[in-house]
Amino acid sequence: MDKDQEILAISRLVFELTKIGDADLDKMLARLFDLLQTLPGILVQPRSLILLRNSRGALIQVAQHGLAPVWAKAELAIPPAVPSPPDEEAAYLATPASLDPPLALPEVDAAAPCFVLPLNEGTQVAGRALLFIDPAWQPDAIEFEFMSDLAKALSVLVSRCVINETLRVREVELEDARTDAIRRLGTASEYRDNETGMHIMRMTHFATAIAKAMGLPAETRELLSICAPMHDVGKIGIPDAILLKPGRLSSDEFEVMKRHTDIGKRLLTGEDSLIQAARDIAASHHERWDGSGYPDGLAGEAIPLLARICAVSDVFDALTSVRPYKRPWPLDEAVAWVRANAGTHFDPGVVAAFDLALPEIMRIRELYRDDIIDPNQVLNFPETVYSSADWVRWEDSLSVGIDVIDEHHRYLFDLTNDLFEVVSNKRGAREVARVLKALDQYVQVHFRAEERMMDHYGYRALPHQQHQHGQFEQRLRDFYNELHSNPLTAQFDVLVYLRSWLVKHIVHEDAQLRELVGSPAGRV
Ligand SMILES: [Fe+2]
Ligand SMILES: [Fe+2]
Ligand SMILES: [Fe+2]
Repeated sequence: MDKDQEILAISRLVFELTKIGDADLDKMLARLFDLLQTLPGILVQPRSLILLRNSRGALIQVAQHGLAPVWAKAELAIPPAVPSPPDEEAAYLATPASLDPPLALPEVDAAAPCFVLPLNEGTQVAGRALLFIDPAWQPDAIEFEFMSDLAKALSVLVSRCVINETLRVREVELEDARTDAIRRLGTASEYRDNETGMHIMRMTHFATAIAKAMGLPAETRELLSICAPMHDVGKIGIPDAILLKPGRLSSDEFEVMKRHTDIGKRLLTGEDSLIQAARDIAASHHERWDGSGYPDGLAGEAIPLLARICAVSDVFDALTSVRPYKRPWPLDEAVAWVRANAGTHFDPGVVAAFDLALPEIMRIRELYRDDIIDPNQVLNFPETVYSSADWVRWEDSLSVGIDVIDEHHRYLFDLTNDLFEVVSNKRGAREVARVLKALDQYVQVHFRAEERMMDHYGYRALPHQQHQHGQFEQRLRDFYNELHSNPLTAQFDVLVYLRSWLVKHIVHEDAQLRELVGSPAGRV
């Protein structure tokens, strides 16, 4: 290759690679190999990878071609930080063993030659690409120059990919900002008559579980999970004397209470699809299938579907919860009552889905409890509820001997596995941000439930646990923020951190909760 050919080759390469467009660096490496192979004298092998620096200066493998992805490695820890090499701009030859820091790849000999292409692009990207080459190839000066030019081109492409992913994380925030005010309104209404706000979480999760059993598409379920919490938003317009009355309402008072549906409807005005769904639910969750409900006496499919789903979820949770004027119904009686009211109070299709979703519904009740966890409670759940991925695998040795706590921990494992699926299937930083938010939310629910139990039973290590929980919550928030600056490395970091923290905390800290088993009433 002479100088003219080099310039021609590099511009053709850049042109071809730019055409790939989307944010998939694995595809880019595969394409790069195809293109390099066609160039005379460039003897690359079908093995390459991209390493990017995380915020702590460690190099993380974020893309590969012909090599296993980084999480396929058995023992995965965050690699140590190394000082950034000064002004590494030109491409150079190295081996995995001679790199700083050395790289261990299961499929590649430590002495296999590779080109190191430094990736530098403003403040956005720093790292390197490694292209393994034929050991017989002795690159000449122009070929070195070609690789250095390629490094500059790759830097731009990688940086573009990072920026695209960053924008996707921002999208989630824009969406959240859009729903935030209204979400808070829903929560505010609930806090007035429910101290912990758990009813709203249970009811929303019941509703999405039912929607899933009905086979509704993911977008509808997402809409439901945003809007269901607002079903009683109109209660903010009901006088305290009625809303907080510690007993049954008189018929006059009940007429006033019924107005929360119309108030909700009036609060939620707007054309936006989200507001419309929220309005449907707030206005119609007390309508009944046979037309005997309020406020409009709608019947059958004239009642919006999401409101029919919320009706079952709301009533079922009300039946099985404590109220100032009633004890909770036993689970089987509440289930029987819901079934018996299919076709009168409830949409029979929704009740059928409720039946299908029952194992998950039972689990949700334990995950979001208002009352203090009883260390002696025995749970009997069908195994099928758990997620099939096993990035973090539940083992019986992780049991702390308290069924409800174990169930919480298994759910945290499920959420971590969900995150793994999103990352490994490259569903993008937007989805990563979503799952991370769900995880953050549930972590708080679990920690508070655990802490309330420890407090109730006078557990001595409570302050230590609170401290660790607090640190973990802070780290999750840090990772979420890091998704904004370097989404590719942050999603990897968070996976590794989650797995090691959860397992360690459960084995070393929560396992000691076992001593509460057999406690009588505890300190009250
Ligand atoms: Fe209501
Ligand atoms: Fe825990
Ligand atoms: Fe804990």
